[in-house]
Amino acid sequence: METTLIILKPDAVQRGLMGRIIGRFEDKGLQIVGCKLMTISQDLAATHYKDHHGKPFYDGLVRFMTSAPVLVLAVRGIGAIAICRSMMGATFGSKADAGTIRGDFGVSNSFNLIHGSDSPEAAERELGLFFASGEVLEYERAIGQWIYDYSGGAPE
Ligand code: RTP
Ligand code: MG
Repeated sequence: METTLIILKPDAVQRGLMGRIIGRFEDKGLQIVGCKLMTISQDLAATHYKDHHGKPFYDGLVRFMTSAPVLVLAVRGIGAIAICRSMMGATFGSKADAGTIRGDFGVSNSFNLIHGSDSPEAAERELGLFFASGEVLEYERAIGQWIYDYSGGAPE
């Protein structure tokens, strides 16, 4: 099982899209194992986006991400990182395919609704930035046996 960090960005929260976006992950069969509404500090935004420091869009990105509350999620499943990235779509709604979150809910070339970790290393680092110890939970879902095939012992 893999756990990834998803951030519903300020535009998603302000536009009332949280429930519909979380619903897509739940519909897919992914498990929500952490969830927190918060306002990102300047320091946290700078740490999270350190790889983009110095790029032309960096200042605007930090301003956007700290401008209003976000919803951070820890989302779990086999291959959750790649699955979430494909559900998010290309970086901006203007280019993202229909059927993806960015493709269906946005048109902007700046506001883009959602962040998702892009590798196992990024997921581990980002989950540690946004969730304290004990805030990402382990729990069984009642429907778990119908999400994955456990007949071979391990989930398939
Ligand atoms: P994210 O990290 O938020 O999941 O998005 P991503 O992988 O699709 O995009 P990435 O290249 O990592 O860029 C991080 C965020 O920076 C903003 N951005 N603006 N104006 C621009 O050219 C530009 N490029 C990137 C977006 O908010 C993007 O999500
Ligand atoms: Mg990225």
